[in-house]
Amino acid sequence: MNYQERLNAVIPGGAHTYSRGMDQFPANAPTILEGGKGAYVWDPDGKRYLDYGMALRAVTLGYANPEVNAAAFAAIEKGNNLTRASTVELAAAELLVDLIPSVEMVKFAKNGSNATTAAVKIARAYTGRRYVCIPRQHPFFSFDDWFIGTTAITRGIPDGHAAATLVFDYGDIVSLKRLFDEFPGQIAGVMLEPATTLVPCGNCPETLTAEPKCGGCPQRAGNFLVQVQELCRAEGALFILDEMITGFRWHLQGAQAYFGVTPDLCTFGKGMANGFSVAAVSGRREVMSVGAIDRQGQERTFLLSTTHGGEMCGLAAFIETVRLYRELSVCDHLWSYGRKLRQVLVEAAAEAGVGEQFRIEGPDISLAFVTHDAQGVPSMDMRTLFCQEMVRHGVLMPWMAVSFSHGEQELDLTRKAARAALSVYRRALEDGVGSYLEGPAIRPVFRQFN
Ligand SMILES: Cc1ncc(COP(=O)(O)O)c(C=O)c1O
Repeated sequence: MNYQERLNAVIPGGAHTYSRGMDQFPANAPTILEGGKGAYVWDPDGKRYLDYGMALRAVTLGYANPEVNAAAFAAIEKGNNLTRASTVELAAAELLVDLIPSVEMVKFAKNGSNATTAAVKIARAYTGRRYVCIPRQHPFFSFDDWFIGTTAITRGIPDGHAAATLVFDYGDIVSLKRLFDEFPGQIAGVMLEPATTLVPCGNCPETLTAEPKCGGCPQRAGNFLVQVQELCRAEGALFILDEMITGFRWHLQGAQAYFGVTPDLCTFGKGMANGFSVAAVSGRREVMSVGAIDRQGQERTFLLSTTHGGEMCGLAAFIETVRLYRELSVCDHLWSYGRKLRQVLVEAAAEAGVGEQFRIEGPDISLAFVTHDAQGVPSMDMRTLFCQEMVRHGVLMPWMAVSFSHGEQELDLTRKAARAALSVYRRALEDGVGSYLEGPAIRPVFRQFN
């Protein structure tokens, strides 16, 4: 059996995240990896790839950062998980509270899904209301049924289980108001990512820089996050930002600081601890306190109680990661590399004559490539071809996650790979993509059947 067959034989899905599955990569991508260092990963044969997957965006400094690893090892040597709260657990909680202005209390977890599900529960417990609202444009909030029940994959979820999750359109405040009108006094909270490739103020995705300007912007009233915040306050619902991806990227204090809004609750995960498993649900003391045990007589809420939530290696890694972010201005680097990466890809597409069909979307900190066929229709075949040709030239680019370890050398390598990949892309537009693909096309995760 090859590695893929062995993985599929013992792990449903062949990996521990569906977005690492074999249907998410071209046929020539490495099926298994052995290690990573800086911006590179390698397979068991020692073949190296420049990586833009970066552990599903969890690694932001670079793989195997020596300082973060040393901090984690030191915590492991101290026992790693003790019988009562540990000093590193307290230090990590105080650090997040000091770092993010909206955060007065925090509960750590190992997975982002646990954090977002906890936020939903807190919102329901605090308001005594039933419904939560999420935007349909945001692909993923949690592996739990309150979210997965809203996707195409409902097998195993009892009928109606996700009926308390309502869907609106990001950027369209009227669609959210409609839900508040339809369910008056019944909406506990609105959860959304602050931004993806879609930004809350439609005008300026390509002019955004590391320097936040939104706070004093004359068009602030038109900022969707500001509108959602106001609506939530007026309706007595909680304003919840899922900063799993935006946190520790857009700005060290989160995209909430970047856009000048103050959520009641916010969740973090990827990027907190350079790949160590740390996530957090956090926010206003009054709201987070539904899970407190020091408020005499308060009805109890069972909020995120996990054996491993306080694991010391991860929390020590988090503390060290934040220290490095401050010392090295990591977010500035992520923005500036993103700007150069956009330029490299746009120029390579123009040179190959496929600027219309291969486009870069989103702000520099949150880039995505969009692949169209000769008819101008979005095409998974063409996406697969681009990824396949990048792999052929040593670049693993399932999406574009940048780290502090991506520098000039990596940009050069990307330029060479993109030029070669996009010239094949052009030929495939002319000849038809079929004969160029080495295997099946990448398919969306959220589909009902394999
Ligand atoms: C926006 C967002 N929220 C929540 C999650 C869930 O995080 P985890 O995979 O750590 O459970 C993800 C993961 O991709 C995410 O992108």
